[in-house]
Amino acid sequence: MRLAPSILAADFASLAEAVRAAERGGADWIHVDVMDGHFVPNLTFGPKMVRDLRAVTALPLDVHLMIERPEDWVARFAEAGATYLTIHVESSRDVPATLRAIRASGARPGITLNPETPVDAVLPHLVAVDLALVMSVRPGFGGQSFIEASVDRLRAIRAALDVRGLGRVELEVDGGIKVGNARRAVEAGATVLVAGSAVYEDPEGPSAALAKLRAAAGGLPVVAKPLRANRRPSPRRRPAD
Ligand code: DX5
Ligand code: ZN
Repeated sequence: MRLAPSILAADFASLAEAVRAAERGGADWIHVDVMDGHFVPNLTFGPKMVRDLRAVTALPLDVHLMIERPEDWVARFAEAGATYLTIHVESSRDVPATLRAIRASGARPGITLNPETPVDAVLPHLVAVDLALVMSVRPGFGGQSFIEASVDRLRAIRAALDVRGLGRVELEVDGGIKVGNARRAVEAGATVLVAGSAVYEDPEGPSAALAKLRAAAGGLPVVAKPLRANRRPSPRRRPAD
């Protein structure tokens, strides 16, 4: 199980420090939310941000493209140093061609879908990707509540991956992940948990937040602030902890 802190919830004026803090806290990947103000009603980063982040961390950069016509941007994000480039199945006019272009660029292709899009929409593309991402909130903003139906959607994609012999494909979940639901996501088959507000808005800081998430998800312990005595991690812990 990997943790991918989303810098969307960090202070944009101090992103290098936010990324380093996540790295010190044992983050596995850095999740970078690219929004264009059209596919989603918010604006964030372009390729230069990916290039500049590439210079401050050795961690994989997990770039989530919430943009129209992602095919027009593949080369620039790949050149900038994206490790994974994930596109929305709703956003591209030719999803197979865009996934092939990502692969050819040297980045690892990912496919994702909005919460209201039927899971069937991504199944034909699983064979062509290294990552499948289940959006567990409507894309566009951090800090939203986890949509519970996402657990069944994770299970459905996990089953589809297994049936196709695609166990190598990472299954990621993004949106509203907290201590209280991390375990359910992993049990449903998720291998990568994205967490924005749970990491960057925890009063104990990113390292402690990552340690708590990792413990809650049932993975390996993290060398960070120790968990407080008598506070055994539990899937039922409230996110406000
Ligand atoms: C939402 C983004 C998410 C967001 C998650 O459109 O794709 O990556 O940062 O933030 P939290 O964890 O706060 O829901
Ligand atoms: Zn995201």
